Amino acid sequence: MSNYVSKSVRKNILITGASSGLGYEMARQFAAMGRNLAICARREDQLLALKTELDAINPDIDVLIKPLDVLDYDAVERVFNEVKAYFGQLDRVIVNAGMGKGQALGKGYFHANRQTAETNFVAAIAQCDAAMAIFREQNAGHLVAVSSLAALRGMSGTTMVYSATKAGVAVLMEGLQMDLLDSPIKVTTLFPGYILTDINRDMKNVMFRADLQSGTRSIVKAIEREKPKAYVPGITWWLLGHIMRRLPLRILKKAGGQ
Ligand SMILES: NC(=O)c1ccc[n+]([C@@H]2O[C@H](COP(=O)([O-])OP(=O)(O)OC[C@H]3O[C@@H](n4cnc5c(N)ncnc54)[C@H](OP(=O)(O)O)[C@@H]3O)[C@@H](O)[C@H]2O)c1
Repeated sequence: MSNYVSKSVRKNILITGASSGLGYEMARQFAAMGRNLAICARREDQLLALKTELDAINPDIDVLIKPLDVLDYDAVERVFNEVKAYFGQLDRVIVNAGMGKGQALGKGYFHANRQTAETNFVAAIAQCDAAMAIFREQNAGHLVAVSSLAALRGMSGTTMVYSATKAGVAVLMEGLQMDLLDSPIKVTTLFPGYILTDINRDMKNVMFRADLQSGTRSIVKAIEREKPKAYVPGITWWLLGHIMRRLPLRILKKAGGQ
């Protein structure tokens, strides 16, 4: 008999980038659903504040704080294994840590583009690798990666490298889905549109930007469905994704591609 964990019982969840924004709010919503959580990020004070909230939301769950810089690839593997050892079984990993500090090419900002590329893509590979080693051994688990609607097309200016990294994540996850076609291990790629967090708080005139609670609610629902791909939040961004794929570059740029 397969030891496949039914999708309704993803009890032990690890979230990276849990110290703010989507990761923070996902943790709150999964806590309300009774899931145990391992919350990872660099800012330990934020993780402590989150744990206090989670304990208040649901005193019956187990919350593990794991300070982690995802650019420390050895630490990624070590921390994921520690979380698995602590819970006994790791049911879901959400590869969410990310940043958007890129700049247009040729303007002296290679260091910022490199940091964005390493955090969003190379560190995502490290996280997926560490999660998959555990899931393969368990023959069970659900790997979720947060890409972006910006992955669907090239973007110019400050979003250029960001969109390339998110396209990289989406393609990586599709390859993984191919590897796992006949496996009980599930893979989901999320393509969020704008949801208000620190990553876009300073952006002006952002159309259709969802607030954090409702945007994350849509993300959590999509994660629970465990489909291979999800465009969130809601039908609006699914539709915008379809339109974005077909727009000529000049119109795409006017529509917000920078
Ligand atoms: N909000 C949106 O509209 C939107 C849309 C599409 C995709 N996304 C994606 O959603 C994910 C979450 O972003 P957000 O919107 O919630 O932004 P956010 O509030 O800025 O959160 C980013 C998170 O990533 C963590 N992080 C960054 N660099 C890290 C590192 N080196 N090591 C460990 N953790 C690191 C940060 O934690 P520390 O600084 O404490 O380490 C923080 O918890 C990102 O991958 C982003 O690209 C967001």
